[in-house]
Amino acid sequence: MDFSILIQLTYLVAISFFIVGVKRLGSPATARKGNQYAALGMLIGVAVTLLDRNILTFDWIIAGIVVGSLVGGVAARKVEMTSMPELVALFNGFGGAASALVAWGELSRVSAVGLDIFSLVTISLSVLIGAVTFTGSFIAFGKLQGFITGKPITFPGQNLFNIALIIGLLGLSGYFAVVPEDPTLFWIVMGVSLLLGILMVIPIGGADMPVVISLLNSLSGIAASFAGFVLGNQLLIVSGALVGAAGLILTNIMCKAMNRTLTNVIFGAFGGDQGGAAAGSGAIGDLTIRETSAEDAAVQCAYASKVVIVPGYGLAVAQAQHVVKEVAAILEKKGVQVKYGIHPVAGRMPGHMNVLLAEADVPYDQLYDMDQINPEFPSTDVVLIIGANDVVNPAAKTNPASPIYGMPVLNVEEAKRTIVFKRSMSPGFAGIDNELFYLENNQMFFGDAKQSLQALAGALKDLD
Ligand code: TAP
Repeated sequence: MDFSILIQLTYLVAISFFIVGVKRLGSPATARKGNQYAALGMLIGVAVTLLDRNILTFDWIIAGIVVGSLVGGVAARKVEMTSMPELVALFNGFGGAASALVAWGELSRVSAVGLDIFSLVTISLSVLIGAVTFTGSFIAFGKLQGFITGKPITFPGQNLFNIALIIGLLGLSGYFAVVPEDPTLFWIVMGVSLLLGILMVIPIGGADMPVVISLLNSLSGIAASFAGFVLGNQLLIVSGALVGAAGLILTNIMCKAMNRTLTNVIFGAFGGDQGGAAAGSGAIGDLTIRETSAEDAAVQCAYASKVVIVPGYGLAVAQAQHVVKEVAAILEKKGVQVKYGIHPVAGRMPGHMNVLLAEADVPYDQLYDMDQINPEFPSTDVVLIIGANDVVNPAAKTNPASPIYGMPVLNVEEAKRTIVFKRSMSPGFAGIDNELFYLENNQMFFGDAKQSLQALAGALKDLD
């Protein structure tokens, strides 16, 4: 059999693993397997590509594999769950850079004048999108890490300037494809694209970075797909297209769950630093809040028949996933029915709460989506809101002036009692007060979520 047909068939097997892997990522119960399938597909793809007879020497390839595996392995093991968006930002950035480098490499290997117009267009687009992804991702990383301010950095006419840059870049890329004799044009496209990546991300608030990172993820896939066209490699074309499509769908889901449009995220200069502590004063007018203690909360939970736990970003910050499971287990032992209500954008990345709770081996059948849990609140005795804020803010339904108005939220106020675990009256991501805290059936349990839950677990045990 022709060797190249064998390679193409094996690529088809690898692609099938990618598709089954992505499908399985759709549910927490199958996500781990999905990840393994996709990794296996990638292993097959890399191994088969290494058998390609165009490879002359393996020295640099082996060095790249060793260094890449070491850096990736250590980073993935060491990174905190709350820093996952930063890690993904870096991965996207390197993905974009790799695509741009592949295109540059191909251009240096074959020389522009020897290439047809289709190859030159794909080379230009690969460099353009790859370079934008590279610098954009590093700015997103910097904003999340805090070494670049999380506040939108804006200047007059910025959006128009960026749009002009995009049009100019597309024009230059087209011109380069038609008149490839002058290599300076290639470098201008590369340089302006790097600048565009910076300029597109600096006006976006730090708290919107997860959406931006998802969009950049999609762009890194599109860049990889173009790099696949440059190399004539079907596997890269398909896997890049999969990443591009998946990233776009995810971006769309995140925007919908926040009731924002993508243009509002990119051009709206919304919000400030992550965590949005800006407006965290506390009281709405003269309204008062009611505080509770571990002992009091324990009595209310122990005598309830149904308790719903609503986790949020604060659960991830406090790393309280194990102790929350312990509290749930004690309650179940006492005959209380326990469910978890998961909002689609609770936390700072898609599936953030599912991943955290899975880490603590919380059974998947106790996790309920917003649409499943909302009808259950009227029959719930106590809702424990652990480090969640915006996703339970009734203003999203009642206050048309609120920046989160229209965002679907968990109807926790319909339960008989809500208890909010947080450290202070500071707002969450959206930087706005939460009227839930002042409702008569709500109590505040102030303190770090992990410590408060440990105290609650202790008090529950003391009731035995
Ligand atoms: P937030 O509204 O951000 O509220 C988190 C709360 O956790 C804060 O009010 C904070 O109050 C509390 N907290 C922080 N550290 C804590 C600790 N150690 N112990 C106890 N509490 C702690 O979180 P949420 O309800 O999960 O909502 C998520 C927000 O992020 C939404 O507005 C959403 O639109 C946005 N967002 C989400 C995503 C994705 S994909 N998930 C992407 C972009 C934006 P204290 O400081 O008083 O403790």
